[in-house]
Amino acid sequence: MPNLTTHFCNATFNNPLMNASGVHCMTIEEINQLAGSAAGSFVTKSATKAARIGNPEPRYINLSLGSINSMGLPNNGLSYYLEDAINRQKNAPDKAFILSVASYEGYHEYVENMKVIEESEYTGLVELNLSCPNVPGKPQMAYDFADTKRLLTDICAFYKKPFGVKLPPYFDLLHFDKMAEILNQFPIKFINSINSIGNGLYIDPKTDTVVIKPKAGFGGIGGEYVKPTALANVRAFYTRLRSDIEIIGTGGILSGQDAYEHLLCGATMLQIGTQLEKEGLTVFTRIQTELLKIMAEKGYQTIDEFRGKLKEIN
Ligand code: DHB
Repeated sequence: MPNLTTHFCNATFNNPLMNASGVHCMTIEEINQLAGSAAGSFVTKSATKAARIGNPEPRYINLSLGSINSMGLPNNGLSYYLEDAINRQKNAPDKAFILSVASYEGYHEYVENMKVIEESEYTGLVELNLSCPNVPGKPQMAYDFADTKRLLTDICAFYKKPFGVKLPPYFDLLHFDKMAEILNQFPIKFINSINSIGNGLYIDPKTDTVVIKPKAGFGGIGGEYVKPTALANVRAFYTRLRSDIEIIGTGGILSGQDAYEHLLCGATMLQIGTQLEKEGLTVFTRIQTELLKIMAEKGYQTIDEFRGKLKEIN
């Protein structure tokens, strides 16, 4: 019988599945439910310095092929998630997880938030979210290559704990080259690829109306719509980044086959957003069962036997 044991950033996990940030991770109660679920690990809602109520509703809608959202960074503030993270580390030091950090105000808030974490007792993994598409008037940091390089330079000058970055999808091979060349210059431990495809538009055919209220209906697209883009991003970075930078594959994971494809492209951990929102916490057991079945059929005992081994046509 194959097993799903996964090593990521010097920690060991029962399986590679996690929630994607934003889904089921806003409150300590939801985080506790994730921690007690069949997921191998979890990530918290992207935190800003101050607590925020986010954009007006409706701001998240499930669609038959995925989802659209413009949440606008509703969260309980960095100190809420950081204090909880410190408690978790004390109570269960072997159960690694990821603290997600964002910024509402822009560049300087990213730096300040990372300073707060550096000066805290928390020593676990941090995901620096450079790709929130839903703050009116604020661009996605990781689409500005020069600013991203400057920000990582500023942060790495003082930040000495393990961290990675959450990236938006890229759509041009030269952009993969350029971003990988920047990331390879910094001591990051992982990337998470992809965030939602930013600023899509869904129209209700019955009413000729957009389906979410913020930003005239424009919002981040997730789910089935995004899998080919997610796989391309995971593969493009797997083939360009330093071998010690690990990859969290996120985007379009609805089944064991989707999980298997992300692993073939080179992902180590796998995050599920839209399908977790649609199906609830039982998604984790279902996808593990489906993935184990595929591995058994192909004769694999461990994920390491096929991770990254996508075949090309010669
Ligand atoms: C939000 C959406 C994102 O895709 C993200 O990375 C961070 C925050 C949001 O709208 O809350």
